[in-house]
Amino acid sequence: MDRGKFSTSYGCAVDKVVTLSHPAGVGGKSTAVKRLYIKTYGCQMNVYDSARMADVLAPHGYVPVDSPDGADMVILNTCHIREKAAEKVYSEIGRLRPLKEDKAARGERMILAVGGCVGQAEGEEIIVRADCVDMVFGPQTYHRLPELIVRATRATGEKVVDTEFPTEDKFDHLPEEARPQGASAFLSVQEGCDKFCTFCVVPYTRGAEQSRPVAAVTEEATRLVAAGSSEITLLGQNVNAYHGVGTDTAEWGLGRLLHHLAENVPGLKRLRYTTSHPRDMDDALIAAHRDIPQLMPYLHLPVQSGSDRILTAMNRRHDADTYRRTIDRLREALPEIALSSDFIVGFPGETDREFAETIRLVTDIGYAQAYSFKYSPRPGTPAAVESQVGETVKDERLATLQQLLRAQQTAFNRSKEGAVMPVLFDRPGRYEGQIVGRSPYMQSVHVTAPERIIGSVVDCRIIGVHNNSLRGEILTATTESGENAATVERACA
Ligand code: SAH
Ligand code: SF4
Ligand code: F3S
Repeated sequence: MDRGKFSTSYGCAVDKVVTLSHPAGVGGKSTAVKRLYIKTYGCQMNVYDSARMADVLAPHGYVPVDSPDGADMVILNTCHIREKAAEKVYSEIGRLRPLKEDKAARGERMILAVGGCVGQAEGEEIIVRADCVDMVFGPQTYHRLPELIVRATRATGEKVVDTEFPTEDKFDHLPEEARPQGASAFLSVQEGCDKFCTFCVVPYTRGAEQSRPVAAVTEEATRLVAAGSSEITLLGQNVNAYHGVGTDTAEWGLGRLLHHLAENVPGLKRLRYTTSHPRDMDDALIAAHRDIPQLMPYLHLPVQSGSDRILTAMNRRHDADTYRRTIDRLREALPEIALSSDFIVGFPGETDREFAETIRLVTDIGYAQAYSFKYSPRPGTPAAVESQVGETVKDERLATLQQLLRAQQTAFNRSKEGAVMPVLFDRPGRYEGQIVGRSPYMQSVHVTAPERIIGSVVDCRIIGVHNNSLRGEILTATTESGENAATVERACA
């Protein structure tokens, strides 16, 4: 796949679907309120982008709603990473078509737009395949949404495709955030990828690697905390390749950016970053894990495979031993650090012995949790034309790997039984009176508590362990800060 093809005209947890809703009204230029439904697929960067799309449209009278029924505009913010992720978009379009037709029968209009990485990769082919789609755009052009809408609503019935990689930086054209993100917020600091792993579409869908300046990141972080976020996760497809312009005009790495945010954003209690590449774990970033109290002791560091031959064929630019040494250095800097990774099984040509090397690596490292996928050939990527491993073999390897990863996750969770950990509560649970938060190691922790606790970091004792979550009880006496202790004591009174 040639990135140039896209530049002529311009998201682990992948495959989960998030809908963006905003019940409150948003002030803006237009008085007529229009309902905006955004459905998000893929990675955290898409979640961030969806929130920013809503910000772009807020001054034009668009208010997010949580159902496509009756919506004036529907945006599918899509993911192209694996075939299944991309195909979901077409099923969703099939479900939306009758809603659009119902609205048209009432003399009203629903604008149906496909944005994100499928939009970027497939462009006008989407309209050819699904003619009810009015508009296609990519991850780098959503700041232009208002003008795209004007074009798409002309009487001529024009279909609009904007998949450029524009020369202007979209971040310079985005308005300030129109709505708070909650206790835990995402902040994109780096975009795109120049690594070109042979299985991956991201360099083609997101474009070249770019970093935002430190000042812009700091301003956005300050606003997010002022709007109520206690935790910020810095995002980038290759976030640890960050090389933004610093406050002294020199180029800063991610370690320095983390120090700067920890020291200059008052009220910021927790920092995280994702997703990182093993090649870019430099000394300053590893030292940051030792030196920055706000930086959480958890790192998602995808390795993909434990076989050197496969890593070379994937163009990962590191071998298994270098990855092991990086983990050793991280553990020397911060012995309690918990690790996560991504794995691909059944990469073209992977033998049983090479798969066994992945199993050995996982056994050696010991992960707190991880994501694993069957290799999915992506059109235009180099690995897609290699000779493929059969589906049954892929299924068997995935099952074996997932069994091991599940056992490691359960063991990690069990090791926290009885421990006292600070938990950031960010949402109500499924049951009456249940509140859910995150431990420093990204585990979900469920407690019974009043809703007022949401937004606080509170010390909890872990009293129950499940495979995917923990049960805790709140300790009111000791918390991460005196201010929180008071909040929690009031909340629990
Ligand atoms: N930037 C991150 C990964 C982003 S994509 C990194 O460099 O690690 C998220 C994950 O999807 C990848 O880590 C990989 O495990 C998986 N993935 C990407 N392309 C894939 C493909 N063609 N088939 C299966 N899994 C894939
Ligand atoms: Fe994809 Fe590799 Fe870039 Fe990650 S580093 S986004 S896997 S090309
Ligand atoms: Fe998917 Fe694009 Fe993210 S392909 S994983 S939404 S960068």
